[in-house]
Amino acid sequence: MTEPTDTNPVEPVLLNDFRSQWAAHGAALTEAFTRVGESGWLVLGQEVASFERALAAHVGLPFAVGVANGLDALEIAMRVHGVGEGAEVLTTPLTAFATTLAILRAGAKPCFVDVDRSGLIDLDAVESALRERRGRVRAVMPVHLFGHAVDVVRLEAISREHGVIVIEDCAQAIGARSHGRPVGDASELSCTSFYPTKNLGALGDGGALFAKSEPSRAHAASLRDYGQSSRYVHDRLGMNSRLDEVQAALLRSALLPDLSAATERRRQIAARYRSELRSNAIELVPEPAASESVWHLFPVLVRGNRERFRDHLQRHQIQSAIHYPTLTSAQRALDGVAHERFGALTVAQDFADREVSLPIHRYLSDGHVSRVIAACNSFE
Ligand SMILES: Cc1ncc(COP(=O)(O)O)c(C=O)c1O
Repeated sequence: MTEPTDTNPVEPVLLNDFRSQWAAHGAALTEAFTRVGESGWLVLGQEVASFERALAAHVGLPFAVGVANGLDALEIAMRVHGVGEGAEVLTTPLTAFATTLAILRAGAKPCFVDVDRSGLIDLDAVESALRERRGRVRAVMPVHLFGHAVDVVRLEAISREHGVIVIEDCAQAIGARSHGRPVGDASELSCTSFYPTKNLGALGDGGALFAKSEPSRAHAASLRDYGQSSRYVHDRLGMNSRLDEVQAALLRSALLPDLSAATERRRQIAARYRSELRSNAIELVPEPAASESVWHLFPVLVRGNRERFRDHLQRHQIQSAIHYPTLTSAQRALDGVAHERFGALTVAQDFADREVSLPIHRYLSDGHVSRVIAACNSFE
């Protein structure tokens, strides 16, 4: 394989490649931007409405509501359900801090349960926590982490049997399926993010809720806009969390139409990693049963020294990341804030200690993928 030297620099393999995105979609993005400028309508207009319809149709859920970011989407879902002050919410500690923060911002108490071998919330642990806290837990917030789908059939059964609300965090898994059903399908309201690194990323911040019914859609839509039901009529205390017309136009016209092809490319890369990575120093993370993953990330677990592995990749000009080095339950922000842990969270901690995310995205060439594989396989 090609070793980089001072005289022979090797092109880096990036974790995200926004310049290539611009090279591929710049013309369509510019056209969409111009359309909004020429329309003279900049906030909550036809672009957001059209994008919401296209997005809902793409994922196969009845309604979508565009908001300012994924964190707000989760908070709004909590508020629509009235899960606030004093409510306990079961969630995973292995996620972006936003998942935990949304629970806290709604006034509720995050209660952390461990994850399974795929890094997803352990539904057996959820059920035993629900039995232990009989009646105290109002909601469960699972995260479809890494692009893998948590079992939606089981989530639905848990919701029914234990009388808890499910709010799925789909920020990393747009388009993923479980038992052939879209993620989000087990929730009356589920959430996603269009942060630029996401599988469907805007050119800035953005997010959405998915709603299963019109009343939930309308409630979420009013909360994103000061709680208005119609102009200057405020039925509830809302927030300002509107998706810009510009971002909606960019997403609908240029990026959403490419999402299926982008997902297909991620799946091809994941398939190569899964069949060709064979270093004893790294362990693959299993895709959960019944999940059709969209491979937002490609996590591996390092046996031995994780930093030595990342340095080795860096020497071969391959970027990597850690998702996540600190569990949300161990973040300093939670000091003095009501929260709870069920058990020692040992599997989640093992991910925090050993996980490394390899590059996986639409703009990696076959040559890039071969370089990642060769670099991993030469690590001892
Ligand atoms: C799992 C998860 N939940 C929530 C969020 C929050 O999304 P946003 O950054 O749009 O607020 C993110 C993204 O950072 C995420 O990865």
